Amino acid sequence: MMVLIWSSSAMMLRRFCCFSTSASSSFASAPLSSLNKKRRLVFLGSPQVSASVLDALFSASSAPDSLFEVAAIVTQPPSGRDRGRKITPSPVAQRALDKGFPSDLIFTPVKAGEESFLENFKSLEPELCVTAAYGNILPSKVLKIPSLGTVNIHPSLLPLYRGAAPVQRALEDGVKETGVSLAFTVRQLDAGPVISCQRIDVDDQIKAPELLELLFAQGSELLLRELPSIFDGSAKRKAEEQDESKATLAPKITPKESWLSFDQEAITLHNKVRAFAGWPGTRAKVMIVDPQNGQSNTTELKIITTRVYNGAKAQSGDADDVVFNKGSLIFPCGRQTALEVLEVQLPGTKVVNASAFWNGLRGQKLKRI
Ligand SMILES: *[C@@H]1O[C@H](CO)[C@@H](O)[C@H](O)[C@H]1NC(C)=O
Ligand SMILES: *[C@@H]1O[C@H](CO)[C@@H](O)[C@H](O)[C@H]1NC(C)=O
Repeated sequence: MMVLIWSSSAMMLRRFCCFSTSASSSFASAPLSSLNKKRRLVFLGSPQVSASVLDALFSASSAPDSLFEVAAIVTQPPSGRDRGRKITPSPVAQRALDKGFPSDLIFTPVKAGEESFLENFKSLEPELCVTAAYGNILPSKVLKIPSLGTVNIHPSLLPLYRGAAPVQRALEDGVKETGVSLAFTVRQLDAGPVISCQRIDVDDQIKAPELLELLFAQGSELLLRELPSIFDGSAKRKAEEQDESKATLAPKITPKESWLSFDQEAITLHNKVRAFAGWPGTRAKVMIVDPQNGQSNTTELKIITTRVYNGAKAQSGDADDVVFNKGSLIFPCGRQTALEVLEVQLPGTKVVNASAFWNGLRGQKLKRI
């Protein structure tokens, strides 16, 4: 009897050992982190610049000792579906698919608050949401789901330039310095406590698309550096409330704003050209005059690349005449300033440099309007 009991407990012991052996062998083949469960991160982003943040998250999460996994992706619905055009996924969705991310874990709600999405989102049990230019407002019912909250990469030094077009508005204002902030998301737009930020100097020739790329690259680094503090809760404690009295707004750009008026000073126009490069671009109405017969045409000219003219006044004759000087078109502007235009584009044609454009005029005169 005694022996029997002993042997049965020995059996149990052996089975327990077997179990623990198989567990430790699976542990040996899997990384240490399978013991400490990985944090479930959901990424929300849409345009090309967000895709670069997603890349950074993918490569960090694939490291053997990574603290997190990308559990799902939320992005804007594909564009073009209502106009009979080819349906194109957002750049973030495309990048995720290219990397082999499961398509059933890519969500594209029209609104982040819609019921069917909320159910899916809850069932993912996200611990942290990371947003980077997602492009949709997150309602409270979404924000309260991730247990560690939501953090946003915002390309400005908050509380400056809150809103949809921070990089464009900063360039338009001619700032010499800007940066990127990592902040918790709250109901009020871009107003949450700031975990960390990174400043950068702004070169006076840089255009919005390049600056956006640069800031989101810096923002990705900031995010990866701060993730451990977000996961262990210390980020919540160290994050600083924004000074509301210093807050400024960066409202979205409308196509109407793309027109240039040469009454303005050259520096103002130059900043606008850099700010709206990419979208919606900048345009001016110009007049082309044939000096032989006095006939003239008005045409729209896209102004692509500019510089503030610092040379001597190369001007003679009519105050509205645009002159060609050392590879640039010189447009007279307000307060006796002048804008050098280096690249232009006529409707329906390619971007050309000023020399090619000037040669194409074949002796006709160019006038600003
Ligand atoms: C004005 O436009 C018409 C039609 O595009 C063209 O034939 C004509 O040469 C242009 N005239 C000038 C002065 O550019
Ligand atoms: C301007 O463009 C033309 C035609 O593409 C090219 O031959 C020329 O080298 C360019 N000039 C400058 C200054 O870039």
